Amino acid sequence: MINSRATQLDAEIISNKRVGSYNHMVFAVNELAGACRPGNFVAIAVGGQSSSMILRRAFAIYRATMRADGVGLLELVVAPQGSGSKWLSSQSIGQKVNVIAPLGTAFGIPTEPVSALLVGGGYGSAPLFALAETLKSRGCRVDMVLGASTAGKIYAPLEGKRSVNSLTITTDDGSAGTTGRVSEVLPALIDQHQTDVIYSCGPMAMLEAITAISQQAGIVHQCSVEESMACGIGVCMTCVLPVKGDDGVIRMTRTCIDGPVMDGNRVLWTRSREIPDGVWGK
Ligand SMILES: Cc1cc2nc3c(=O)[nH]c(=O)nc-3n(C[C@H](O)[C@H](O)[C@H](O)COP(=O)(O)OP(=O)(O)OC[C@H]3O[C@@H](n4cnc5c(N)ncnc54)[C@H](O)[C@@H]3O)c2cc1C
Ligand code: FES
Repeated sequence: MINSRATQLDAEIISNKRVGSYNHMVFAVNELAGACRPGNFVAIAVGGQSSSMILRRAFAIYRATMRADGVGLLELVVAPQGSGSKWLSSQSIGQKVNVIAPLGTAFGIPTEPVSALLVGGGYGSAPLFALAETLKSRGCRVDMVLGASTAGKIYAPLEGKRSVNSLTITTDDGSAGTTGRVSEVLPALIDQHQTDVIYSCGPMAMLEAITAISQQAGIVHQCSVEESMACGIGVCMTCVLPVKGDDGVIRMTRTCIDGPVMDGNRVLWTRSREIPDGVWGK
């Protein structure tokens, strides 16, 4: 079911700053900010009223806060890639965009203090900083690994670094941190910090690799998947992934309403994009 707290509104842009390869954007939203949880995403209409870009674009919520004066703030990290994200990141302060939020599932927060390892790829780090703050407030140990192809694509704001016990950076080209992929440093970190749960967000291949590591270590892996989304609200079936349910049946599952946060061990990571054998109804 669609997130019952979802609201649609015109949100004014109150800040738009370039940070490395990304735009950090802040929108004025009303009490909607109080309904957002780490892991939820927003769907934004792009291109203006007469645009041919009819599909909304999904963005993970970086942070949602209520200011003392009662104004709700929604923060996003936008990578200008294709036409929709380039349009959004080129908008000026004072302009309004139509937003539906909060959408999708949130990261599950443990009831007891645990040792958590947060892993972000590229702008996939966006939802992890608010999650880190929540986990810290519950007494958890929080270690973070951020990876990207090159240093400019690591999104690690200074204030975010303060909310973690340790931060490990990896880059494919060695321009920052350890040379290589995040998956290469994970086994040692899991051992060192006695990790109980992994939270991740980033490219699908990275999530698949982390799932293999978490399965081998026998630990929980909550991942935020980024499947292409057309409607974002459960109508079109564009975003489906094969996922094993509690009853053991594999179903093509809508990641916009039953995700983006999912149990990585339940997902059948199929790079071929074909419906695997054994899926219900095939
Ligand atoms: C849950 C989620 C969170 C995300 N978080 C972020 C974030 O924090 N920051 C960020 O920069 N980006 C994020 N993205 C990616 C973002 O939604 C856009 O896909 C990306 O910005 C590229 O969009 P574009 O308009 O620039 O590119 P374009 O190429 O113009 O458009 C891409 C759009 O085309 C549509 N599309 C692509 N393939 C298909 C298909 N097979 N069928 C139907 N429609 C399709 C999708 O709606 C997609 O959004 C996220 C995506 C998801 C699903
Ligand atoms: S994006 Fe349309 S059903 Fe998920």
